[in-house]
Amino acid sequence: MKVDVILGLQWGDEGKGKVVDVLTPNYEIVARFQGGPNAGHTLEFEGEKYILKSIPSGIFQEGKMNIIGNGVVIDPALFRQEAEALEETGHTLTDRLYISKKAHLILPTHRLLDAASEKSMGDSKIGTTGRGIGPAYTDKVSRNGLRVGDLFHNFEEKYQKAVSRHKEMLSQYHFEYDLEALEKPWFEGIEKLKTFHIIESEHFINKHLASGARVLAEGAQGSMLDIDFGSYPFVTSSNTICAGACIGLGIAPRSIGDVYGIFKAYCTRVGSGPFPTELLDNDGQLLRDNGKEYGSVTGRPRRCGWIDLVALRYTVMLNGVTKLVMMKSDVLDTFETIKVCVSYNINGEVTEDLPFDISEGIEPVFVDLPGWKTNMSRMQSEDEFPEEFNNYLSFLEEELGVPIAIVSLGADRTQTIIR
Ligand code: GDP
Ligand code: IMO
Ligand code: MG
Repeated sequence: MKVDVILGLQWGDEGKGKVVDVLTPNYEIVARFQGGPNAGHTLEFEGEKYILKSIPSGIFQEGKMNIIGNGVVIDPALFRQEAEALEETGHTLTDRLYISKKAHLILPTHRLLDAASEKSMGDSKIGTTGRGIGPAYTDKVSRNGLRVGDLFHNFEEKYQKAVSRHKEMLSQYHFEYDLEALEKPWFEGIEKLKTFHIIESEHFINKHLASGARVLAEGAQGSMLDIDFGSYPFVTSSNTICAGACIGLGIAPRSIGDVYGIFKAYCTRVGSGPFPTELLDNDGQLLRDNGKEYGSVTGRPRRCGWIDLVALRYTVMLNGVTKLVMMKSDVLDTFETIKVCVSYNINGEVTEDLPFDISEGIEPVFVDLPGWKTNMSRMQSEDEFPEEFNNYLSFLEEELGVPIAIVSLGADRTQTIIR
């Protein structure tokens, strides 16, 4: 069988967690392939709300295997908090959660290095989530990282070696820290981590695929935060695009099936960096209020703007999206007019292709579409969609060249229409 991939097409927080949860019944395995606790994937069902950071969003459905793949970076302290919070609400994990031996560990000193680096950059900081993501992936690429599999062989020695290297790096910043306070929960987290199935996930997944299992790969962040193709340097430190699923799980490109590209009916971004369609006016505030656009990890207000088809065309291309999923259109329910950015005007030249540098000189070219001005949040079928909404869907499908297969009209699992 094939591996279907779900990933974000914008700057993250598109609603990946919700869609993975909705689609999980169709699969035997759900696997996270990159990122770490910088992610915050929200799921709402039966009146409860959960925010997952490192644990895949298939965890709530009985009988499904959930894998944290080799491409993910794990902070044991945060992992323990997340796992225990789920266990306290009655969700058993040990028989459902599998962790790759090759996943890298985020050390307490990675978090300190992240914070120290951000502080030293002042106004030009990336605005990271402060979870040590960049330093952990840097160590992976520079071949200094520690992996989950290392926990079982001379770990203390390897840990101390890494920490002394990090302390040396920290001494170059004027940055005060209390490492011991961070180490205690971190080592408690290590003990918790060891209670789960620690596996060679690439063998596990490929064997299951060969015997007919269906696999859903869950992305984190979004394609515009990809380390190669995002708005560099204001990006995360992993490959968030579809190809990242092959690397982050050890599956061959020919095993990829459908690619679900998720986008909001408008656009948001957290942290610093360019955002051509950003709205700094009342409409932006209305999107933030209606969409409750505050970060699920850091609580920071998300920057809001109109949908950007130049960026979306680019990320649809990079990912080979076969099915689009549109989220949060209910947030636009009250708008008289909805603007869609179809191209950029750069010094008088109009382009539909995302340029190398989107940080300045870009004037978005908008098309105005009439709003539907209807509360759609309780609709059960696409037969109930207002005409203006259908026009919005058709316009986007035509511009992006891919069908919108799923429409989400609210945060709850049930507020989802599969077309
Ligand atoms: P993720 O990181 O891509 O999983 O997305 P987040 O969970 O960070 O952010 C999406 C937010 O929108 C969460 O608070 C969801 O509960 C919420 N959400 C998801 N789908 C919808 C929707 O269709 N309408 C509304 N109003 N909220 C939604
Ligand atoms: P999910 O999976 C939105 C952003 C940060 C910052 C940049 C780099 O919930 O969609 P990092 O901590 O990764 O080094 O930060 O990336 N960022 C996200 N923005 N959603 C996320 O994850 C994000 N993960 C990282 O705000 O701008
Ligand atoms: Mg999120």
